[in-house]
Amino acid sequence: MLAGRKLAILGMGTMGRALARGLVSGGALEPAALRGTVLHTERLDELTGEVGFPVGASNAEAVAGADVLLLCVKPARMVGLPRAVATELAAQTVQGAARMVLETGRHPAALKDDVTTPAGCTISALLALEDGKLRSVLARGVQEAARAAAGLGG
Ligand SMILES: NC(=O)c1ccc[n+]([C@@H]2O[C@H](COP(=O)([O-])OP(=O)(O)OC[C@H]3O[C@@H](n4cnc5c(N)ncnc54)[C@H](OP(=O)(O)O)[C@@H]3O)[C@@H](O)[C@H]2O)c1
Repeated sequence: MLAGRKLAILGMGTMGRALARGLVSGGALEPAALRGTVLHTERLDELTGEVGFPVGASNAEAVAGADVLLLCVKPARMVGLPRAVATELAAQTVQGAARMVLETGRHPAALKDDVTTPAGCTISALLALEDGKLRSVLARGVQEAARAAAGLGG
């Protein structure tokens, strides 16, 4: 599936490096097909030497020459992606979640539980959304739209 493609790994931390090692040692990709990025610049040379392909600090540059992106940063971090890439990633994520609901017929809450590890990143994000009263804000938005729509007829 990856053969002949260029892969950019944004976030060469624990996961990014492990995935890169696995892809190269398993023969899925040559090191020349890979680029990686990190946030801090102090260890760029060391990381490049360790993994055998260029590791830089510019996500835009890494993304520009890539066919496939691997996001390996902590979820709450801003990765400075070009707007078009960020828009596509967000749209694909929402589309993927919607498809899972439609294709499995399962309740969204059950699908959410499937990807929520106890004490993991997802539950931390969910807690922040609950703090911001996201569910109540969305429900109120629907209520308000319904109220306004009812007034249109009169
Ligand atoms: N570790 C695990 O066992 C594990 C297991 C399953 C899933 N995950 C998930 O995998 C993801 C990554 O986890 P991890 O353990 O690999 O984290 P990590 O070791 O902290 O690595 C994150 C990497 O992202 C880089 N980074 C941060 N902001 C960036 C930016 N704006 N642009 C480019 N790179 C940036 C960091 O750069 P610096 O090094 O310069 O700070 C760091 O190298 C998380 O979503 C985590 O939940 C991890």
